[in-house]
Amino acid sequence: MTALPVIAIDGPAASGKGTLARRVAAAMGFAHLDTGTLYRVVGLAVLKAGKDPGDAGAATAAVKALDLSLLEDHALRSAETGVAASQVGANPAVREALLEFQRNFAAHPPGGQGAVLDGRDIGTIICPTATVKLFVTATPQVRARRRYLELFSHGSSRTEAEVLADICSRDHRDMSRPVAPLAQAPDAHLLDTTQLDIEAAVALALEIVRAALRT
Ligand code: DC
Repeated sequence: MTALPVIAIDGPAASGKGTLARRVAAAMGFAHLDTGTLYRVVGLAVLKAGKDPGDAGAATAAVKALDLSLLEDHALRSAETGVAASQVGANPAVREALLEFQRNFAAHPPGGQGAVLDGRDIGTIICPTATVKLFVTATPQVRARRRYLELFSHGSSRTEAEVLADICSRDHRDMSRPVAPLAQAPDAHLLDTTQLDIEAAVALALEIVRAALRT
């Protein structure tokens, strides 16, 4: 049996990788896993328990008791949960506990056609032999503007400067952690969305994916 195609999409916060992953999966008829959601569930569980997401014991306890009902929690996409997700993501025991689920999704995606996974370490650690790898990025200022507008539309009162500061410290934490840091895999295609709107970015991503699947 030949392996199904796997598309790995990595990049920093608010680079557009989530929207790209969703759109590419829909266009190709593949299943999509937003792996940041898994780290957000763990981070939110720690916050709800009144603990510090930087506390290794609290994060490990939360991942062991993975509470999937938090997928429906309105706080899942908040800026605070994003920071907590980045903090628990620096914990090797949390990453280890989430590894098998992600690899299993890639190998046996719902629908049986192929998988798109987006995150920080998909092309480097989770699926190093992915069929196609994309590394999506944009300048911190452009990413902060996008995230600020998104949070504002959901009623957040966070300023653009605060959002930029969050993004810069999250980038730093995600890129400098010793285990599975955010990095472009050597064989990943770089997609800089600084000057691109989402339609142009999707068109470019699909061109790369279709060309790779033809070869
Ligand atoms: O993609 P996101 O903003 O929902 O991710 C939230 C945080 O989760 C991110 O800052 C770092 C962590 N994360 C990770 O460490 N590894 C992944 N594969 C996905 C997310």
